[in-house]
Amino acid sequence: MAVLVTGGAGYIGSHMVLSLLKEAYEVVVVDNFCNSSPEALRRVCSIAERECSVVEGDIRDEAFLDKVFKENDITEVLHFAGLKAVGESVSAPLKYYDNNITGTLTLCRVMQRAGVRNLVFSSSATVYGDAKNMPISEDCPTGTPTNPYGRSKLIVEEILRDVAKSDPEWSIALLRYFNPVGAHESGLIGEDPMGEPNNLVPYVAQVAVGRRPRLSIFGGDYQTKDGTGVRDYIHVEDLVAGHLAAMKKLATEKGAKIWNLGTGHGSSVLEVVEAFQRVSGRDISYTIIDRREGDIPECWADPSHAKKELGWAATKSLNDMMADTWRWQSKNPDGYRS
Ligand code: NAD
Ligand code: UFG
Repeated sequence: MAVLVTGGAGYIGSHMVLSLLKEAYEVVVVDNFCNSSPEALRRVCSIAERECSVVEGDIRDEAFLDKVFKENDITEVLHFAGLKAVGESVSAPLKYYDNNITGTLTLCRVMQRAGVRNLVFSSSATVYGDAKNMPISEDCPTGTPTNPYGRSKLIVEEILRDVAKSDPEWSIALLRYFNPVGAHESGLIGEDPMGEPNNLVPYVAQVAVGRRPRLSIFGGDYQTKDGTGVRDYIHVEDLVAGHLAAMKKLATEKGAKIWNLGTGHGSSVLEVVEAFQRVSGRDISYTIIDRREGDIPECWADPSHAKKELGWAATKSLNDMMADTWRWQSKNPDGYRS
């Protein structure tokens, strides 16, 4: 019996694989390495002192995926594979819809043929759009995502709900992540964006190690606690624990379920910068510039549904998140190429 992790070499997937190996699961990873390095999985196996099976390939390749299911006794799937760069999705929408939607459709067809119907999907708080009331609970209506990446997540959620409705044997978790950050405490694996980071915390970390001269803060005039954007940052290890809890829950629950994975606490950009300076002892130069198009002012989760149904809650503080990011970035200033 094995868990298939699509996108298992990526930032969140690699932390997930490590946690599964530690929990004694057999793990099969499928990844095409379009945004990751095989080195991440080598390090995961070395930390866990166990092997996982790594199969290089694309989830849109149906014959390839059929073979993976034939050759392994897969019982559940954690589906991380996808493209996630918001800005790139605006300039290359077809690439994003193809990878994120076609990829998931292909995976579901193959799962159906193989008789595997337990699926955990990486969704995003972006599906709520610009929600007016905080905190955001799962019964808050989905909004209008401002870019093709966000729309691809919303469309896939709807497809998966239809799939679950069509056949009562399916058990599907739609996990809406808030802002995953941090790294494994070993400092051996972490987030390693290719090119200029799009997200705040990797950018701050690269300024701290001298790879970037300064951070641009997108907007200082929001109606928030200090004028900068507010988000619910969640440690990747907490996020992974939420997946394990959801996966276990799917063993006994049918249908499509939605759970927010957030801490319930919002931090501003300036608070993130201050926390990073505190734990790293490095000065983070920044300039406040215009707002970034498509950004919302604030967003944080009501995580009580996941607490009640999964017995899961985030445990790590913003300081923990920044300290672990710093350990990873300072040990690996050039990521997996260090
Ligand atoms: P990531 O880019 O680090 O990992 C994704 C992995 O999937 C990579 O290893 C990539 O090579 C692989 N991949 C992409 N397309 C593939 C394909 N067609 N076939 C096989 N492998 C493929 O991203 P991440 O941060 O680990 O995110 C994982 C998932 O969580 C994504 O679906 C993302 O949209 C979602 N998510 C991420 C965030 C975030 O802030 N990191 C927030 C919300 C949701
Ligand atoms: N920010 C800056 N400077 C930067 C990068 C970000 O000031 O260089 C600010 C943003 O304006 C925002 C905050 O930092 O206020 C967080 O921005 P991120 O880009 O780190 O994260 P977002 O909330 O914009 O988006 C992230 C993921 C999306 C996901 C969403 C909700 O990138 O994929 O969280 O889960 F949909």
